[in-house]
Amino acid sequence: MILVTGGTGLVGAHLLYHLLLENDNVKAIHRAKSDLLAVKNVFSYYSNDFEAIFQKIEWVEADITDVCLLEEAFENVTEVYHSAALVSFNPKDYKEMRKINIEGTSNIVNLCIAEKVKKLCFVSSIATIEKSVKSKIIDEDCEWNPETNNYGYAISKYGAEMEVWRASQEGVEVVIVNPGVILGAGFWHNGSGNIFSKIKSGLPFYSEGITGFVSVNDVVKSMILLMSSELKNERYILISENISFKEVFFKIADEFNKKRPSIKVTKLMSAIGWRLEKIKTVLTGRPPMLTKQSSKSIHNKQYYSSEKIIKALNYKFEPISETIKNVCELHKK
Ligand SMILES: NC(=O)c1ccc[n+]([C@@H]2O[C@H](COP(=O)([O-])OP(=O)(O)OC[C@H]3O[C@@H](n4cnc5c(N)ncnc54)[C@H](OP(=O)(O)O)[C@@H]3O)[C@@H](O)[C@H]2O)c1
Repeated sequence: MILVTGGTGLVGAHLLYHLLLENDNVKAIHRAKSDLLAVKNVFSYYSNDFEAIFQKIEWVEADITDVCLLEEAFENVTEVYHSAALVSFNPKDYKEMRKINIEGTSNIVNLCIAEKVKKLCFVSSIATIEKSVKSKIIDEDCEWNPETNNYGYAISKYGAEMEVWRASQEGVEVVIVNPGVILGAGFWHNGSGNIFSKIKSGLPFYSEGITGFVSVNDVVKSMILLMSSELKNERYILISENISFKEVFFKIADEFNKKRPSIKVTKLMSAIGWRLEKIKTVLTGRPPMLTKQSSKSIHNKQYYSSEKIIKALNYKFEPISETIKNVCELHKK
């Protein structure tokens, strides 16, 4: 029996869809407030038979921070895909992010060890991998540097990775994936899905920062291939291309036949922007659209290598222009 956490999010919903095409024994946890219809909606993008595929999921209500509920979910489980996390740049979320991402992963690891789960796949992030002084390209050998100004999300995902390595010491086979910015359909009002909605409704801003981008379908396909392979106790960067936000935003605008964003965000503009957002948050209580960290990261130019997984699985990533075209088509639906 396979167990999926985070199944009601962008990665998890796509993962469930691909797993269910090949397997009947799939359990997924959800919280009381989780939106299960969003998962069915994702399935409907890819198959006319989405209702039947969705019905195959054995849903179990659990929270990864609540060991008692989680224990029940682990009954008869032999493989775990752990994708649940709190993803936020808001400093106010730091404590909760540590609880969900580190403590939650520790709970998953403890149950994997106790229940003698065979293999665990953990979805981490490129945020946990630092550029080394020697090379321009970031790969899996680049170590985490505690001296640099790391931000809350990165610290929490790094802490979670440490828990997963603990599982490998206790006899559970593990694979960690470190995806770049994941582009995919559904969940149009949060995370990277929001980029598509914002550009469609005329977002005028762009930045020239560069990072690794990858399609959600490539992320989940690689996870499934890694789990069914002999590969273990390794981590793999998942990116298709290193490109600028400008290029991505322009491609999305072109696909929607909208005007390309025309205002380049400078470092000064974003420095003023996050401070204004902070004041707005104090006055309205609404989460900031730009934080000190996100205002910095939109200018960073980081280049990642996914050679390791390409070689290990002979994997071919979808070009980002194709991903954007497909996601925009689904957005129009
Ligand atoms: N999106 C990206 O660009 C990106 C890039 C690199 C890595 N990642 C990593 O990929 C993974 C999935 O990201 P995503 O984009 O799919 O995120 P997402 O859409 O925000 O989904 C997060 C999932 O985690 C679940 N979750 C959060 N707290 C939980 C808790 N306490 N107990 C149980 N479930 C909980 C959520 O459940 P509810 O539905 O109940 O909220 C949801 O299913 C994360 O580990 C993230 O760090 C994402």
